[in-house]
Amino acid sequence: MEYQVITMKNRIDADESLGGLCFAEAERDLPFPIRRVYCIFKVQAGMHRGYHAHTRNWQLLLCPYGSIDIIVDDGKRRETVRLDDPTRGLILHPGVWREMIWNQDDSVLCVAASEYYDANEYIRDYDAFLQYRKAPGADPEGKRS
Ligand code: TYD
Repeated sequence: MEYQVITMKNRIDADESLGGLCFAEAERDLPFPIRRVYCIFKVQAGMHRGYHAHTRNWQLLLCPYGSIDIIVDDGKRRETVRLDDPTRGLILHPGVWREMIWNQDDSVLCVAASEYYDANEYIRDYDAFLQYRKAPGADPEGKRS
């Protein structure tokens, strides 16, 4: 599957009340440059988002607070990665379908993306996604990888 689960480099203070810190550096710890960051917040438990694939974006997904399940689908298999620890990161390659399920109110999803926002590099129709996986160069929505 075209994803990796990583443990972010971290510093957990011996004094638990001081908490922890985790980090990743573009192109050193991540296989892509970062052109954009965004967060999704104030989502209620049980809600689903996503339902799309990107043709060009590499992304790092983090859940610094709460618990979110990420369903990753390559057109043949679907796997679920639970993000419920701030140090756990999910790197999604371009071309995978993702759905996100909020397990806990107010869980925060942070994303670092390799590309500037471009609505034209989204595939939002699942059948179009399956077509794209079969023949990326002849994508029915006119997207190119
Ligand atoms: P979208 O990616 O559709 O979120 P989700 O799939 O999780 O529901 O984005 C929601 C809206 O925000 C959509 O109108 C596009 C806009 N948006 C931007 O303008 N810039 C961005 O970087 C992102 C991620 C979204």
